[in-house]
Amino acid sequence: MDDLLSRSASQAAAATAADDLLWYKDAVIYQLHVKSYFDANNDGIGDFAGLTAKLDYIAELGVNTLWLLPFYPSPRLDDGYDISEYRAVHPDYGTLADAKRFIAAAHARGLRVITELVINHTSDQHGWFQRARHGKPGSVYRDFYVWSDDDNRYSGTRIIFVDTERSNWTWDPEAKAYFWHRFYSHQPDLNFDNPRVFKAVLAVMRFWLDLGVDGLRLDAVPYLVEREGTHNENLPETHEILRQMRGYLDTKYPGRVLLAEANQWPEDTKDYFGTGDECHMAFHFPLMPRMYMAIAREDRFPITDIMRQTPDIPSNCQWAIFLRNHDELTLEMVTDSERDYLWETYAADRRARLNLGIRRRLTPLLERDRRRFELMNSLLLSMPGTPVLYYGDEIGMGDNLHLGDRDGVRTPMQWSPDRNGGFSRADPAALVLPAIMDSLYGFDAINVESQARDPHSILSWVRRMLGVRRQHRAFGRGGLRFIYPKNRKILAYLRDYEDETILCVANVSRTPQAVELDLSNMEGRVPIELTAGSVFPPIGQLTYLLTLAPYGFYWFLLASEAQWPAWEVHTPAPEPLPEYETLVIRDSIAHALTGAVGGRIERDALPVYLAKRRWFSEKGESADTISFACAPALPGADRETLLAEVEVRHRAAASHWFIPLTITWEDEPTFAMASQLALARARKARRVGLLTDAFATPHFAHGVMRALSERRELPTPQGVIRFLPEDGLADHLPTAGAEVKWLSVEQSNSSLIVGDAAMLKILRRLNEGIHPESEMTRYLTGKSFAHTAPLLGEVVRASEDGKPTTFAIIQGFVRNQDDA
Ligand code: GLC
Ligand code: CA
Repeated sequence: MDDLLSRSASQAAAATAADDLLWYKDAVIYQLHVKSYFDANNDGIGDFAGLTAKLDYIAELGVNTLWLLPFYPSPRLDDGYDISEYRAVHPDYGTLADAKRFIAAAHARGLRVITELVINHTSDQHGWFQRARHGKPGSVYRDFYVWSDDDNRYSGTRIIFVDTERSNWTWDPEAKAYFWHRFYSHQPDLNFDNPRVFKAVLAVMRFWLDLGVDGLRLDAVPYLVEREGTHNENLPETHEILRQMRGYLDTKYPGRVLLAEANQWPEDTKDYFGTGDECHMAFHFPLMPRMYMAIAREDRFPITDIMRQTPDIPSNCQWAIFLRNHDELTLEMVTDSERDYLWETYAADRRARLNLGIRRRLTPLLERDRRRFELMNSLLLSMPGTPVLYYGDEIGMGDNLHLGDRDGVRTPMQWSPDRNGGFSRADPAALVLPAIMDSLYGFDAINVESQARDPHSILSWVRRMLGVRRQHRAFGRGGLRFIYPKNRKILAYLRDYEDETILCVANVSRTPQAVELDLSNMEGRVPIELTAGSVFPPIGQLTYLLTLAPYGFYWFLLASEAQWPAWEVHTPAPEPLPEYETLVIRDSIAHALTGAVGGRIERDALPVYLAKRRWFSEKGESADTISFACAPALPGADRETLLAEVEVRHRAAASHWFIPLTITWEDEPTFAMASQLALARARKARRVGLLTDAFATPHFAHGVMRALSERRELPTPQGVIRFLPEDGLADHLPTAGAEVKWLSVEQSNSSLIVGDAAMLKILRRLNEGIHPESEMTRYLTGKSFAHTAPLLGEVVRASEDGKPTTFAIIQGFVRNQDDA
């Protein structure tokens, strides 16, 4: 299936260079913290050497881009977002050389690297701030930050960390002035009205871009500039700064990207793309809580609603979407009542609430419900944008509400059931954050090592889904079209890109659902389920009916006619064997047919069987009864073969049909037709096989020829069946084991050729009276007509009063003779 759904190599190769610059559209980002990932030197703190050692795991996961949380020197009062030196690595995490080695090793595996550019603020320990607070008002360094003599300026500005901060101003006793900060009071905001600040920021950018990083996440970017009388978010001056940064990037570092963290409404976030001249990417903050809202309310509306409010963005831009990250699940972009509802649903435990959000990981939020986990991830991987996965969520890691701030969602990655979850060999007390050890989420229960071995684990599922997503650029680049079925528990949308259309359908409720999708403009297309390649019925003129399990979802490729040949070749889709009854054979078929299973074959199998036969001309009429009239054994055959005669009764009339029966065993060479023409399964002790039309086996043809040459007679309750050879037979007898070629099986009669010598035709409908064809052939044979196949014999039953019924006619084989 894989290559069927993949773009051909040549197509991929044809991708233009301009296309390559848009790599972030096809990206899947994996977000992690160096300090919590893997500790190579066993001092209890994750480091670059450790991360480098785990790059194979990350590459195998199927992501292609890493986003690293801040790893710069820092007092770590905001976990590294309080930077005290921009152009260095925190010594706990290694050296700059380690960081370089890491970047090279990532690139060697085809992984790109995004790092943090935290420029709204620094730590109060940064050299700039230290000089600023000691500098004279108005001096070069003092001006790096935003100062005030009173704390009433910019009073229209909200506070972000409401749980800890009372004001955006903090008094600095050294400077004897207030400094401005949007976050913690140890994080003074830089002053972007000072051109030296901008120059300094460009120098920082240059530094990391020269080291090879592929992208920069712009932390807290809406707050760069302040203006009295505004709420100090998204100001035009801020956008001007971003445009300049982008201009610089495009000239010096084409192909590197800016990713904006702007926790804003879509119409405001859109401005961070500018006209394609600001940030390449921006997080879609409002979508995230609405995915949780949709499954809580069992209603697609929150998702469709916000996506309809989401404006189109320039073609070189891309949303970044996510379910969880290193922060609290922010509920800033919902209404107050929605926030209360989400808090009640997902953070009933009040310790889980922080600021305007919920500090929990994905799996605990979903109450360890695997179905919800898969559903939410299916949305993450199929909604428009570049998905961002948070480390640990791919194995369903839990959180620790007893840790302060957001540390509970930043605990060490759980690699194995070893000490500290395989994260570090250090004394557990020395760990940067305690590893999770509870019985549900502890590293004993949840770790990479055991999940990598388990094909049904969350990790294996995530890997598979990322593999599926990788095959289709429509996920990253396609447009979005919602379908609005009446059933609002179903979210359905189309993703189109170039000649590809993918249909995603998700049941956001806890109950099974049926849905009728209006796909009328897709008529004739064939849905192919993407995770397994099963082919669904084609889309017709009526609405398309689907049923979905609780929290179930589908991804379908809607294959157009032009795409058919590809999948037809790859999915031969053989008809599965019907659910045959098993005929238990103790001694003979004949005996078994007299038992209960024989009755069931008459009642259940034969009606269906006959209806499918081309030679059965009474298909339209529903028979009152169908039964075996008799089934005498073909004499002298090398295996049990019954010359069964089936009686079909309809009202007063009865017709008789000839179906010779035998069994082909599973351990024998098979004949394709024998399984196509089977009526039932058969089992004799441990041996199983199919009860089938004996005509489909060569044994039958040879058996008839032998019975003919031996002039056999077979008494039956309906009269004596006679094998009547003609004079010419001796010249046309096939050698034992001679090849049999079937001419027609499903015509009104069935014919085959034995050993290029004789043609055997059996008659399906049995009629009393001399068969016109045998009469004619006999006449012509008698006259020695050169072009007539000579009559070699007949199988005829004579009733008690002497009336003949022909079962089979055997003629000499004449090459090029058509199927009669
Ligand atoms: C961003 C970061 C968050 C940090 C804040 C202040 O929102 O995601 O972790 O606390 O900026 O730097
Ligand atoms: Ca370490």
